[in-house]
Formats: sequence, C-alpha cells, structure tokens
Amino acid sequence: MKRIADLDVAGRVVLLRADLNVPLDGEQITDDNRIQATLPTIRELAGRGARVVICAHLGRPKGDGYAARAAGGPSLRPVATRLGELLGQPVAFASDVAGESAAATAAGLADGQVALLQNVRFEPAETSKDDAARAGLAGRLARLATLYVGDGFGALHRKHASVYDVPGLLPHAAGELVLAEIEVLRQLTTDPARPYVVVLGGAKPSDKLAVIGNLLGQADRLIIVGGMSYTFLAAQGYEVGRSLLEKDQIPHVADVLAEAGRRGVEVVLPVDLVAADRFAPDADHRVVPVADFPADRESLDMGPATRELFARKLADARTVFWNGPAGVFEFPAFAAGTRALAEAISKVSGLTVVGGGDSAAAVRQLGFPATAFSHISTGGGASLEYLEGRTLPGLTALEAGG
Ligand code: 3PG
Ligand code: MG
Repeated sequence: MKRIADLDVAGRVVLLRADLNVPLDGEQITDDNRIQATLPTIRELAGRGARVVICAHLGRPKGDGYAARAAGGPSLRPVATRLGELLGQPVAFASDVAGESAAATAAGLADGQVALLQNVRFEPAETSKDDAARAGLAGRLARLATLYVGDGFGALHRKHASVYDVPGLLPHAAGELVLAEIEVLRQLTTDPARPYVVVLGGAKPSDKLAVIGNLLGQADRLIIVGGMSYTFLAAQGYEVGRSLLEKDQIPHVADVLAEAGRRGVEVVLPVDLVAADRFAPDADHRVVPVADFPADRESLDMGPATRELFARKLADARTVFWNGPAGVFEFPAFAAGTRALAEAISKVSGLTVVGGGDSAAAVRQLGFPATAFSHISTGGGASLEYLEGRTLPGLTALEAGG
C-alpha cells in the first residue's frame, strides 16, 4: 500500500476521503475526535503543497434524490468551520458534492489550501449497490482531482463510491490515520502478547457473533458486558426480566459458549447487575445477583461484584481489545460498570485498544485521557470487520494498483 510520501503532491489537487462523521446536536458538534484524527494527513498534504479537497459523509441522509437529501441534511458546513478552527487556516466549503460548486472550489485552491465538499451521501449513488451508479459518481469525483488519498478509516468497510470506486480511477495512497489504525489491528491479529483478553459489549449479540466466532481462535479470554451480556445470561438459563434481549440469538450464543468450551477460551459473564424499574437517568435501582433478577426490571449496568471480577480478569492481560460499553454510561447513575472497565483496561501493561464510536465516546465522556490506552480507534464497524477476518472494501481498493 502506498503512503502519502510516495506521491508527488505539490501543486496537485488531491481528493482526500476522510471520515468526518461526528455526532451532532443540531448544528453543534458534540465530539470532534474524528476531525482531530484527520489533521495529521491534511497537514502533511497541505504542508507539501497539495491542494486538498476533502470528501466525507455525515449521518445517513434520507430521501430519493439529491435535492431531497440536501434539503433534509445534515450539511457538512459546521464541520468545515470546526476543521478550519483546528487547522488554523480557512477551509473553503463546496455547496455540492461533485457539481459546479465542487469544481469551482477545487479550481480556486492555491497550493497548501484546503476545501471540504458537501455531504457525499446527498448523492444517492454513493451508497448504491449498483456498480454502474457508483461508477458514475466516482467518475465525477475523480475529475475534481489528479490524486486520491484514502484516510476515512471508519468507513473502509463500506463499498461506497468515494471509498471503493474512486481509488480505482486515480493514483492513490493511504493516509496517516488509515496506516496507524491498520497497524494496530495487524498487531491484534498477528501474534498478540498473551493473555489476550477481548471485552465485548453493546446492545446486540447479532452484530457481534461473527466476530466472537473468529476471536475464539485468537483470544484467551472473552469478557461479555452490557446489553449483549443479557442474551448470554439468558442462554445459560437466567431470568433477565425486561433487560435487552435478542431471543432469536440464544441458540447461536449457546453454540458460541460450547465452542469456547471446546477451545479452552474462558468466557466471563456478569455475576450481579443493576436492576432498574425503567430506562431513565433517575430510575429506581438496586444491585441483584444474576440468579435473582426480578422479572419486572431491566438491567442498566454491571454490579460491584462484576466490576471486581472483570478487573481481576483483566489484571494479567498483555493485550486487550474493548468494544462496547458495559452499561448506560450516558446516565451517571449507570456509568460505574463502564468506568470500572475503562479503569481496569487503563492499568493493563501491554497493547490496549478501545474500538468503536460508543466506547471511544464513553472513555472521553468519563474523563479518561487518550494516553490511558495504547490506541482509541476511530472506527467501530471497520475494526470489528477487520478482526472478523473480513476484507474491507476500502482497504482492498487502496492496496490495489496505485
Ligand atoms: C461510522 O460512523 O461508523 C462511520 O463513519 C461509517 O458510517 P456508517 O455506519 O453510517 O456507514
Ligand atoms: Mg457505524
């Protein structure tokens, strides 16, 4: 895979695919981490005299055509503003994706200047399953530039026009973020220091069963937390009341548990839970052992015995991958499990990787500095699919040709 240093970018228009998919509250960016993570690549390109045209998506716009989507938003304009503040130089904003404004904006750049195109998902072809539709948009995007740099790690698992098709049309390289993220994933999948402990949480086992299957061949210990753990507990015959439960996944989970047993992988589940009378920040709640879970309550967090158990099961780890919070950390009353987990992982000496939007947001919201972990990934789905052993379309495209 080529890197930016392999391209002669001075004086050229470089189309940079970044992942600037930040959480928004109206037009307010609530976490700018993904913008920050893209700065090294932008600075390198601009510093070497490139004219940088950034292409990115924001959210999942709805509507049949471009006009409906553009009217409904979300617009990337607030991201252009924030990016300009962080870069310390103005960022021009094109009001369309690959139309007149995009062409004029790209043509108006001087060496070292930066522009951002409007939300690429306003173009329905971006995410189309129809190869010809994607190729059409890819051709229009490619005409804006003479080189392509792929640095949108969080979107590499998407077979989208700007991620997968454009690199086939222009000489291309991987950006700094993609290289850094892939290097960490490579370390996790090639001979990790042992014990290798994987902590998986989040709402749905169905999203993560494939990863678990693949990880059983790699990890020494699997700690299941949060929303996912209730289906695991149910598979072991426990009452979980009104907790999150994917009933149809119980047979699969039972298979995974049996397979873990055969392979000698230890699976650690909660032993006590915080049972709340409803899903609310001020819900009435009490700690109960998993064997006594009340039928009319739902679990919103892990209990103190579980927090201690998880800390013990992490103490000897030399490699940790963590994806998915342990409870409803957004509510302070139910953040103790996620906080304890983050604390235990931060104490591990070895490679510690926090993967995924929710867990990354959780550690930041709970006040952990980035230095508490070896790496906080900007991509959840992309990291998990890589660990699953799947090929990431965007990565395949960057690896091909050049
Ligand atoms: C993400 O936020 O996970 C990436 O930016 C990809 O977005 P998507 O899940 O909407 O494809
Ligand atoms: Mg996603």
